Amino acid sequence: MESNFDKVAGTYDGLARLIFGNSIKKSQVHFLNRIPDSAKVLIVGGGTGWILEELGSIKENLSIDYVDSSNKMMELSKSRNAGGNHVNFIKGSYHQIQSGSYDTIITNFFLDVFDEVELASAIEHFTKLLSDKGIWICTDFQKTGRLYHKVLLWSMHRFFNMLANLQAKKLADFRKLLLNQGLQENERKEYFNGLIYSAIYSLS
Ligand SMILES: C[S@@+](CC[C@H](N)C(=O)[O-])C[C@H]1O[C@@H](n2cnc3c(N)ncnc32)[C@H](O)[C@@H]1O
Repeated sequence: MESNFDKVAGTYDGLARLIFGNSIKKSQVHFLNRIPDSAKVLIVGGGTGWILEELGSIKENLSIDYVDSSNKMMELSKSRNAGGNHVNFIKGSYHQIQSGSYDTIITNFFLDVFDEVELASAIEHFTKLLSDKGIWICTDFQKTGRLYHKVLLWSMHRFFNMLANLQAKKLADFRKLLLNQGLQENERKEYFNGLIYSAIYSLS
């Protein structure tokens, strides 16, 4: 069964800010200025959609396909002011995006939703949707070996397993899976003592 973030949509951003402070937002904003002008952008699992307002404040003329499977998340996202960018809202699973050649794909705290089996096929799916010179901005958690990070990750998984039917039971190594698809990591920035990272991947 797929995850469902409806129950947590109203509190998601506040909770994230409470636990991770500014890191959660800063990490997701860090590479947004690398999106090329007038780019065709795919945002998958965009959550409450605050990123649309952020993009609207730094870019215009982007053509954004914005996908999220949660009704509540989509409702919140549609109420955002996207500025001079055009947003095509797609309520449903990312599987609905079967074709396209995106200049930028954004997966922020999205890959961590899946178990290892679906994760590998999801990454393969998005790699096929990336244009030859496109960039994939991925922001997520990573293992650091620190005890308090392990406790935090464990607690978050239990919380979202219960309330959002999260598939993932533990954190996977996204970087390894992305590199396996022939992507290369061009730049990387870490936050919250390394627990959170944002990176740019591309095919060339
Ligand atoms: C952990 S939240 C991250 C939200 C946002 N990117 C952020 O960082 O604030 C994951 C989001 O992915 C969405 N989601 C989960 N499974 C999905 C799927 N198969 N297709 C599209 N969206 C999905 C959820 O509804 C949720 O909004």
